[in-house]
Amino acid sequence: MATLVDGFGRTFPYLRLSLTEACNYRCSYCLPDGYQADGRPTFLSLDEITRLVRGFAAVGMRKIRLTGGEPSLRKDLPSIIAAVSATPGVQKIALTTNGCLLPRHVGIWRDAGLTALNVSLDSLNPARFATITGHDRFAEVTEGVEMALGLGFAAVKLNAVLLRGLNDDELPAWYDYLRERNIAIRFIELMRTGDNQAYFERHHYRAEALEQQLVDAGWTQQARAPDAGPAREYAHPDYRGRIGIIAPYSKDFCAGCNRLRVTARGDLRLCLFGDFGIPLRPLLQSDADLDALTARIATQLGLKAAGHGLHQGNTGITPHLASIGG
Ligand code: GTP
Ligand code: 5AD
Ligand code: SF4
Repeated sequence: MATLVDGFGRTFPYLRLSLTEACNYRCSYCLPDGYQADGRPTFLSLDEITRLVRGFAAVGMRKIRLTGGEPSLRKDLPSIIAAVSATPGVQKIALTTNGCLLPRHVGIWRDAGLTALNVSLDSLNPARFATITGHDRFAEVTEGVEMALGLGFAAVKLNAVLLRGLNDDELPAWYDYLRERNIAIRFIELMRTGDNQAYFERHHYRAEALEQQLVDAGWTQQARAPDAGPAREYAHPDYRGRIGIIAPYSKDFCAGCNRLRVTARGDLRLCLFGDFGIPLRPLLQSDADLDALTARIATQLGLKAAGHGLHQGNTGITPHLASIGG
């Protein structure tokens, strides 16, 4: 079975594919007020996505995560899930969503072949949720999560970006939430992007500080599975749910990198904070280009850097994560 390996011995079974840059939220850490996508971009079509995923599966991608922007804004999302699901070699199809369309659509996505779901939930307090995301949709998101838990997904995970002064005091509420639910909440350390400098300085909260509170409350770090994502996961005998910490500012964060990214416009991004995209779209126009596509992916992987250098003060130039899919 084909495997992609880079110059640092890392393997890449996992592709994060952005379906759109558009979003119906305005999370204060992500899309600043007044954000406009430049021009009227056209995002990869279902046919282009089908060819792209076939190419990545041929070089060893086993898991595809659909991201955005907000991927559920694509009307053809069920067809995209079904096409990815039908691609030989793909074993897991995951979706990262802000969750407000879950109640209407999650069953349809599951039927189309979706196997795992990550939902953003930045606060368990509805008023704070509305302040952070710019939208009063707490009820829909939490109702959608309850529905998802009943649908037999391999995993349902929640994401909260840790924000000093906005949601950094909610661990007790999260413990209650996790007592009976088979779910993981992952706290993500706020990342500085091209657009959020002042916000970052005001609200960045070190993930290690939260981790210390967990340890003090009796949570213990779990062994990492070989194909695990970036989260350090904690469990506690009194709680069914788990807590993950995604700490991109810790120094070994990139050593275990196992993913590549493709933007909604079809550019390969070797790193979340890399400064250039490699256009793949010209090779997605015909089935006859499959070999050229796989060759381009394999060659470009040689340019992947050891890490993003955030812990050394690098900020990267990614303007905001909606443009690249987180
Ligand atoms: P799974 O292991 O598949 O659940 O993936 P995940 O936790 O990476 O998925 P999700 O889309 O929920 O990612 C959560 C957030 O973690 C992303 O939006 C990013 O903010 C952050 N993240 C994920 N991967 C990386 C990475 O490679 N580098 C950095 N710096 N941050 C990442
Ligand atoms: N820092 C950390 N996480 C971010 N996300 C978006 N922007 C940032 C940032 N600057 C996260 C969202 C969501 C995921 C898709 O990306 O909270 O969970
Ligand atoms: Fe939209 Fe996600 Fe950015 Fe929030 S974090 S504004 S949900 S793309």
